[in-house]
Amino acid sequence: MKKSMVFGVMLALCAVIGLAACGAESEKETESGVPIESLEEKGTDYLVLVNKENLISGDYVNTIQLCDIDNVDGGTYQVEKQTKEAFEELAEALKEKGVEIGVDSAYRSVEQQQEIMDQFIADYGEDYARRTVAQPGTSEHHTGLVIDLVPKVNGQWVIENEDMLKETEIFKVIHATLPKYGFILRYPKGKEDITGYDYEPWHIRYVGKEAAQEIYDQQITLEEYLGE
Ligand code: DAL
Ligand code: ZN
Repeated sequence: MKKSMVFGVMLALCAVIGLAACGAESEKETESGVPIESLEEKGTDYLVLVNKENLISGDYVNTIQLCDIDNVDGGTYQVEKQTKEAFEELAEALKEKGVEIGVDSAYRSVEQQQEIMDQFIADYGEDYARRTVAQPGTSEHHTGLVIDLVPKVNGQWVIENEDMLKETEIFKVIHATLPKYGFILRYPKGKEDITGYDYEPWHIRYVGKEAAQEIYDQQITLEEYLGE
């Protein structure tokens, strides 16, 4: 299902209120005005756990530096700085393997998540929405450490969820490449009882290389890795 229409409106709003582009200006402070110097002292928790039981902390956004990243619709999203750099390296490595990936979604505020939830309930019903969209405040997208990617097949971006689920061979290559660049597949097949969500081959989460490799080698979830 196409989420990009909902996001298009959000992005227009973001542009109006002037969110950081991660250029010279945003090097000085975060979106919420926290000086980067104090941010560096505090440090970003790349292993933060956000799920149905663990809500995003109110000041987490003050511990990350958000940067603009282009999406496949010709618009812009935001994503945490190190996550962006890692994604660009991942995309480059995949290109060398003949696989092209783009961005369909990244950082979302609680308000943006609410809009998506409302839209999904209206379009697909409550049951499907609860299995595929996190309640506002419990979405990993609030961390800025997540990207929903889309693959390009025969020159076209594959955007719809049900179409992406058919692209098993491409996603095999993508998933096998993730750990080297510090990403994990956050909602794997067969782990729905632990993660609380349907399999999402497109939702990748930055945790850093060491954790990503261990999670991949052991075929576990972030919850299991953190002993939850
Ligand atoms: N699709 C994931 C669960 C989210 O909405 O955060
Ligand atoms: Zn996602």
